[in-house]
This record gives sequence, C-alpha cells and structure tokens, in this order.
Amino acid sequence: MSATTTNTAVVEVQDLNKSFGDNHVLRGIDTTVREGEVVCVIGPSGSGKSTFLRCINLLEEPSSGSVRVGGEEVTDPDCDIDAIRRNMGMVFQQFNLFPHLSVLENCTIAQTTVLKRSKSEAQATARANLEKVGLSEKADAYPAQLSGGQQQRVAIARALSMDPQLMLFDEPTSALDPELVGDVLSVMRRLASEGMTMMVVTHEMAFARDVADRVIFMDGGVIVEEGSPERVIGDPQEERTRTFLQRVLDPTHVDPGAEDAAYDKRHHDSESAADNFVKPQDTHGHYGH
Ligand SMILES: Nc1ncnc2c1ncn2[C@@H]1O[C@H](COP(=O)(O)OP(=O)(O)OP(=O)(O)O)[C@@H](O)[C@H]1O
Ligand SMILES: [Mg+2]
Repeated sequence: MSATTTNTAVVEVQDLNKSFGDNHVLRGIDTTVREGEVVCVIGPSGSGKSTFLRCINLLEEPSSGSVRVGGEEVTDPDCDIDAIRRNMGMVFQQFNLFPHLSVLENCTIAQTTVLKRSKSEAQATARANLEKVGLSEKADAYPAQLSGGQQQRVAIARALSMDPQLMLFDEPTSALDPELVGDVLSVMRRLASEGMTMMVVTHEMAFARDVADRVIFMDGGVIVEEGSPERVIGDPQEERTRTFLQRVLDPTHVDPGAEDAAYDKRHHDSESAADNFVKPQDTHGHYGH
C-alpha cells in the first residue's frame, strides 16, 4: 500500500462474469481497488484485461456478478450510469480526440455539455490540466498537429478535466513510437504520486514494477495471481505468470540461444553480401544519379 492509499474502496468487483455468446471471457473476477491505489493489470492477449476494464465503466455489460464504483452498483438498472461514468476517466490505446476541435476545446467540451460548467471555468480547468501534462503551449493546436505522445497526453488532460475519482488506462502507450512512451508514462507516474486512483492495463513491466501498488496477472478470464510488484513480477508463484513474464521480458519470444545463433548467421552472411552491394552505391552516390 502506498502513502496515498486509504481504506475507502473505490471499485469493488465480486464474481464478475462476462460472456460474448458462448465465449466465457471473464470467469469470476474478485477484487477491490482502494482510494489512491495504483493497480496494474497484466496478462496475455485475449485474457480479458480490456473486457475487465470495460465492465467497470459499463462499456460492456457484465453477464453476472457485481461491480460497485464509489459505493454505487453499476449493474443496478436503477443506478445513474452517466453519473458514475463521469466519475471515471478512461484513456485508450487510440486517443480518440475530436480532430476538428482544438486541444483546448477537446478538453472543455464535456465539461460544458455534461458537467454544465461555464466556458471560463471549463477553460481554466482545461489549462490547469494541460499544464500538468506539459502541453500548455499546445492549447490552440489541433490533434493532427501533435505527435502521438502529445495526443495521448491531451487525452489524459481531457479525462482529468472531468475531475474523476478513478482513472482507467487501457494500454495507453501501446500505439506510440518507442521514443514517445516515456513522456506519457511520466505523466501517469506523476498522477499516481499525487494520489489518483488508477487501474492500468499495460505491458510496460518497468512502469508496473515502479508505480503499481498491486499487480494483477490475468489469464483465461481469471486472476491467476495478484500482489505487490516485487512479488508478482519479481517472484511469481504461478507457472502461468512465470511463462508470461519470460515472454514479455524477452521480446524475441523464442529460445534466446536459438535466436542468437540465427542472428549471428544472418549477420555474418549479409555482411559480405552488403559489402558487395553498398560499395558501388557509396562511390556513385544515391540511386538514380
Ligand atoms: N465486443 C466483443 N464481442 C465479442 N467478443 C469479444 C468482444 N470483446 C472482446 N471479445 C473477446 O473476449 C476475449 C478477451 O478480449 P479482451 O479484449 O478483453 O482481451 P485482452 O486481454 O484485452 O487482450 P489484448 O492484450 O490483446 O488487448 C477475446 O477472446 C475477445 O475475442
Ligand atoms: Mg486489451
């Protein structure tokens, strides 16, 4: 538990099940996320991580079980799901900004239409959040004029401008060029240190290790293992967790010995081929000249 975590439960999930037709995707998920806690969800593709987050903000309707957010049962037909959703910011892999609106307008539109804030109040809130993500000077730019990492930080500022109690992130850096990942992660790191309650689906193991209070490893629609990052990533108890971590920590996904041998062979063979190929080009300049 981090310094910012309190005992108040923000999300309580009990025996959550979700099926798409006869595909039983979530098979009895139980967990509680406390105020100020940062929970990273890891696991292989298709294990149900996105579906789990989407059931929390009712982008998907759970098939059975209970999901409470801020004490409200989101599956209760009488609950005000719009009010509950307003309390949760969600950031996806794709940034989903409005292309025809400026950065500032992207961050104010839901404030004025949904929260009924005045334009000046909405703009003040938006500017404060753009400052927080390091993009004050881009307020008047349009999304197409920004890098992917900047767009994703706008998406975070937009979500924060609704003053959410909880932030859900679904692989927020997966669509980014590697050199842009760090800026987004550092914004998330700062949010976490300021006490934001966060659930983060991620493949960034270094981030999970550093920032998470708790790591949940999912496979086949169940929580296989959960605990501190030191335990789940550093010293996994379950074979499935170990296999997964070996794969993500070794991005070649194959026996490293075999890969090294294959690489050496390719490298060696292509070196002599490249010598023959490149030299005339060096002498005569670029193609076509
Ligand atoms: N809207 C949908 N309709 C039908 N099946 C779906 C739908 N959304 C997800 N699924 C199925 O549910 C399973 C879990 O998908 P989910 O997207 O939750 O996995 P994930 O862990 O987020 O994977 P990834 O790491 O690839 O994002 C998959 O078998 C997927 O095909
Ligand atoms: Mg997913």
